[in-house]
Amino acid sequence: MKKVLFVCLGNICRSPAAEIVFSEKIRRGGFEHQISCESAATHNYHPGKAPDARMAATLEKRDYPIIGCARHFQAVDFDNFDLIIHMDEENLSNLKKVVRHAGDAAKLRSFASFCTRHKVNEIPDPYYGGQEGFDLVADLIEDGCENLLAELITRSTI
Ligand code: 4NP
Repeated sequence: MKKVLFVCLGNICRSPAAEIVFSEKIRRGGFEHQISCESAATHNYHPGKAPDARMAATLEKRDYPIIGCARHFQAVDFDNFDLIIHMDEENLSNLKKVVRHAGDAAKLRSFASFCTRHKVNEIPDPYYGGQEGFDLVADLIEDGCENLLAELITRSTI
């Protein structure tokens, strides 16, 4: 079983979007016994909160069932997951503060590195912006999740 943890700042917009989309792609592909995912926040702003209503509405329009509730990232997550995938450079620098050894650091990946249809370095934070930001996040998340799934299925090295 490969376990993936998506991480962003608040765990109510970008990383739950990744959890929602990736979970559904795992389910539709029949990979539930090989791959699983969760999401977490680098900052404990919204513990227990459901995904942001704007993010949820954006994904519901694309036929994804809304799941998840916010939780804070903890060092033990490095033990419990194979890949820790961050949304932007700020998330990465916050995660690096919790890294205990080289084995933890080796699990860190950028979500944007899995995007191929869109050339981006980060998944931009949509929280303080308009609907176009949530549409962009959904586009980027769908793009990256397709490639992440393909890589996990075909390669054992990531
Ligand atoms: P997320 O977006 O990191 O994609 O979940 C944010 C959610 C909440 C806040 C900032 C970004 N906040 O400042 O509360």
